[in-house]
Amino acid sequence: MIDLGLPVKTHDEERQGEALMLEQRPEKNNGRKLYIESYGCAMNFSDSEIVASILLDQGFETTTDFNNADVIFINTCSIRENAEQRVRNRLKEFKVAKKRNPGMVVGVLGCMAERLKSKFLEEEKLVDVVVGPDAYRDLPNLIDQVDSGQRAVNVLLSREETYADINPVRLNSNGINAFVSIMRGCDNMCSFCVVPFTRGRERSRDAISIVKECTDLFNQGYREVTLLGQNVDSYKWEPLPILPGMEGFDKESSDQKVSPTGGDLEGAPVVNFARLLELVALINPDLRVRFSTSHPKDITDEVLYTIARYDNICNYIHLPVQSGNSRILEMMNRTYDRDWYIDRIDAIRRIIPGCAISTDVITGFCTETDEEHQDTVSMMDYVQYDFAYMFMYSERPGTLAAKRYADDIPEDVKKTRLQEIVAKQQQYSLVRLQAQLGKVQKVLIEGYSKKSDRDYCGRSDQNAMVIFPVDERFKPGQYVNVLAEKCTTATLIGKIID
Ligand code: SAH
Ligand code: SF4
Ligand code: F3S
Repeated sequence: MIDLGLPVKTHDEERQGEALMLEQRPEKNNGRKLYIESYGCAMNFSDSEIVASILLDQGFETTTDFNNADVIFINTCSIRENAEQRVRNRLKEFKVAKKRNPGMVVGVLGCMAERLKSKFLEEEKLVDVVVGPDAYRDLPNLIDQVDSGQRAVNVLLSREETYADINPVRLNSNGINAFVSIMRGCDNMCSFCVVPFTRGRERSRDAISIVKECTDLFNQGYREVTLLGQNVDSYKWEPLPILPGMEGFDKESSDQKVSPTGGDLEGAPVVNFARLLELVALINPDLRVRFSTSHPKDITDEVLYTIARYDNICNYIHLPVQSGNSRILEMMNRTYDRDWYIDRIDAIRRIIPGCAISTDVITGFCTETDEEHQDTVSMMDYVQYDFAYMFMYSERPGTLAAKRYADDIPEDVKKTRLQEIVAKQQQYSLVRLQAQLGKVQKVLIEGYSKKSDRDYCGRSDQNAMVIFPVDERFKPGQYVNVLAEKCTTATLIGKIID
């Protein structure tokens, strides 16, 4: 596998990467090429790997050049208006390619497809197929429909679909880190957020299939898995009891399969997130486990103790605060207040000393006053986050906030507040990294640094990016001890020590 060194960020609508790995299943080849590009969060990225798997099974192979493709899929994000704008701009570029090759199929997948449904076909004439996040199994039929001259839409959401049985094709992979989806959808209805509408009801994936996927990844040489869900702390899966004669029985339209391979899971009580973390950590001490996203209302001490107990569960928690002010949090329908959030931070600091914490912040939510914004600033002073994703509030059609409240904070005020917290965060990111100087970090080598092939890069347990000179004795995928000697606001710089 080749490492193309593309950044993969979570919780950011930045373009994340493309189908750069060339993949095919030669025994099935149908001579058609698929190009797939993903925007949005890691969930979308992971979904593209499921889509690729479904189409490879149909005989497609992937290509890295959309001009060369028979099918172009763009897996979209709706989280903020500019995320959608970026997709529209990209579609203009695909239009040029389609003019040259009129037989090309252009499909819009993911959250924007779900939000706009068939409206997409009216608005964007080049689009042939619109597919929501729960309808990917239908892709072969939908492509057939397009081949027969129709345009096709499937945006049905499901209460059960978790794609548990589909083995994702690892696109754009370095062969070391992989995302593993453990649940889909979200039931939280934060008033600003479009996700419950684009991804549907929350459902947890079968724990047996999760542990199996992570075990397979480890056996293939992967050394880090990131368990993904919009609210991992509400993960809940109950194995069905095995009745005599039902071994291997697949309950229809459910992912809760009674599997004969489930080992000690079967007949066990409900698997919650703490237990799932533990099951994945137990696969092998050399498999690092990360997860995202934790919700402040649901993260339990049990999860924190589990993280503390296992060396291979990374000491890093992404705990989005959104606002430091209780009135705004209530309007956001986050169901916790400032004191509750601070209590969770204190619990993390107490149970996992040295744990890195990152967050998401929204500035200029409806009716937010300057003083209320200062509560967010003071929260940042209190927590001293290692990292933060910060956004100006972007009203999303159909959300509770769009229905109930006016988007009344002027753009320039949102921006000034954003700049203030970005500056504050830069200061704390630096403080956090400086605190690591002179200390030895256990780093998983991910590949060569983007700037020079004389340096390796990898991340510390606390998720800091670390750069250090290549030492031929160690290869990507191995752990090394690195002494941190210098830092920027984003990176530790050091050297391997024996
Ligand atoms: N499930 C995660 C967040 C998923 S969306 C959680 O609950 O924390 C990622 C981030 O995008 C959110 O945490 C929020 O900070 C931001 N976001 C979501 N909707 C937004 C909107 N309408 N405007 C601006 N930022 C938004
Ligand atoms: Fe959106 Fe809230 Fe669900 Fe996160 S928890 S995805 S912010 S509704
Ligand atoms: Fe975007 Fe959908 Fe993820 S809206 S952030 S791609 S769940």
